[in-house]
Amino acid sequence: MTNILIQNGQVVDTVSLKLKKADVRVRDEKIVEVGPKLKPGGGDERVVDAKGLLVSPGLVDIHVHLREPGDEDEETVASGAAAALAGGFTDIACMPNTTPALDNEAAIEFVFRQAFRAKAARVWPVGAITKERAGKELAEYAQMVRGGAVAFSDDGAGIASAGVMAKALKYMQPFERTLIQHCEEPTLAGGVMHGGFHSTRLGLPGVPALAEELMIRRDIALVRSIGGRYHVAHISTKVGVERVREAKKEGLHVTTEVCPHHLLLTDEAVSTYDTNYKMSPPLRSPEHVAALFAGLKDGTIDCLVTDHAPHRPEEKEVEFLNAPFGIIGLECSLGLFAKALVHSGRLSWPAMLAKMTDGPRDVIGRPRVAVAVGQNADLTLIDPAREWTVDVSTFRSKSRNCPYDGWQLKGRPVMTILEGKIKFEL
Ligand code: DOR
Repeated sequence: MTNILIQNGQVVDTVSLKLKKADVRVRDEKIVEVGPKLKPGGGDERVVDAKGLLVSPGLVDIHVHLREPGDEDEETVASGAAAALAGGFTDIACMPNTTPALDNEAAIEFVFRQAFRAKAARVWPVGAITKERAGKELAEYAQMVRGGAVAFSDDGAGIASAGVMAKALKYMQPFERTLIQHCEEPTLAGGVMHGGFHSTRLGLPGVPALAEELMIRRDIALVRSIGGRYHVAHISTKVGVERVREAKKEGLHVTTEVCPHHLLLTDEAVSTYDTNYKMSPPLRSPEHVAALFAGLKDGTIDCLVTDHAPHRPEEKEVEFLNAPFGIIGLECSLGLFAKALVHSGRLSWPAMLAKMTDGPRDVIGRPRVAVAVGQNADLTLIDPAREWTVDVSTFRSKSRNCPYDGWQLKGRPVMTILEGKIKFEL
């Protein structure tokens, strides 16, 4: 067991949203001292000079697709958990759209076992809402909760039937787990990019913003009537943000998240026909992007996530119409979010990091972590000034479908500490 003294860093307080200069001593799995000018303890204590670095509670990404079981050539629990550490994440939650789906207790326990073997980031499995994610019959929530499922989602598809959605909200309530909905009304969807000016110009079938808006409206009406914890996955539309804002004001348990691509890119990027601009929900037009920024600023959007979605090259290197949806992002999301939010002056570092720590922990019901005495030593050290170029060839992920290759970013995780152990160091 290594003991660590982190000196000269700026400790991130995600509640007061302040930075405080302090040293942090880690012994075994815990933070044992936080204060000015701590003296090295000698022995096996490793002294880390964190001058110029932020010392943050460990980052969490609650929207990650690992492809195990079924498509282990795209990603495994082990490769995804290693990529997570390199991205500064101590914890990730993985979506159940594997083959077969994570829709039963054994499948949930399998993810935990693979994560235990990998000894990388913690992996929290999200169970399916319906059996085989088919949107018809409810899956067994009690058993999956016993196996350790932290939330439920049919992500990749929304629950089309209002009746099934109503039942799911009701049956999930005793377990105090969040239902994470992929909001896309399927009879309006079916396109490959945002439905609007550019889809018309390019002659590609569109997914109108209405497909998302309608499902969010319907679901909020159901939550109002039935109750439950409801989380909108990868929000991408203006009206969607407005409805979540209103639901929060009403006091409903409604939360949401946003991905880097919906902040940094627009549907115009599809003009290149590069399939790394194809994802679900699609890249939207500037008015939607502006609404997402407003939602982040006023607290409507609680979490920042990647929607890390690995796909093999031969699947992605086809006509835009035929390519699968999704891009990877675990290993560059911190720099991307810093570009979108901090360097643009929209949020401070602590305000942004609160949405990568407390916000996601709250959604999956994991206790918050603070940089304070007695807390678990789950920490991410970030160099906010570090300039670097995204190079997908260096990624620990098994996949390469990433539109950010070659992007110049500023801000990078340089150390990830999990339970007092240095698991990643740049
Ligand atoms: O772009 C996406 N890819 N969106 C989803 O909801 C699913 C994901 C995937 O699994 O590939």
